[in-house]
Amino acid sequence: MLSGLIHSHSGIRWILLAALIAAVVTSFGGWKKNQEYGKNSKILHLSVLIITHLQMLLGLVLFFMAWGVKVDFSQMGNSMVRFFTVEHSFTMLAAVVLITLGYSRSKKISESALRFRKIFIFYFIALLLILLGIPWPFRSHLGAGWF
Ligand code: HEM
Repeated sequence: MLSGLIHSHSGIRWILLAALIAAVVTSFGGWKKNQEYGKNSKILHLSVLIITHLQMLLGLVLFFMAWGVKVDFSQMGNSMVRFFTVEHSFTMLAAVVLITLGYSRSKKISESALRFRKIFIFYFIALLLILLGIPWPFRSHLGAGWF
């Protein structure tokens, strides 16, 4: 069961990254070109929010399942344990907060360009945090894969 959850959490990263990059690129375009904020934008931005929350829920389950193994606040000298206990978890939680705030605040804005701008700023910072927080396989001491 743990292995299935880890693979789901690992695989969903790609769906999240694809949707988030699409949202960042198109919201920047929408802001700069003064486009109309339409139904497709709303669906994309809401999808990013839902996928991020799903990923957070899986991450929280993994956090408690890995307790005493990869998650252990008493083993901060071990760089892999410290990564999953503190760096990964807190960076990703910060990204989730930004995406949630960006989406909810943008909903209150009626002017299209300003709404795109709000999404762009919050989602772009969240994207940077997520890229930094992913245990990429080239950081080999973290022992995570591509999928
Ligand atoms: C929201 C964006 C997130 C992304 C893109 C993400 C991505 C990943 C990836 C790629 C892995 C490596 C899986 C593997 O071994 O192949 C991982 C592992 C892990 N993540 Fe996340 N994660 C996110 C959020 C979170 C959150 C919010 C938490 C907890 C608060 C969390 C807790 C964990 C834990 C504990 C592991 C290690 C699981 C294990 O190997 O036992 N993640 N995550």
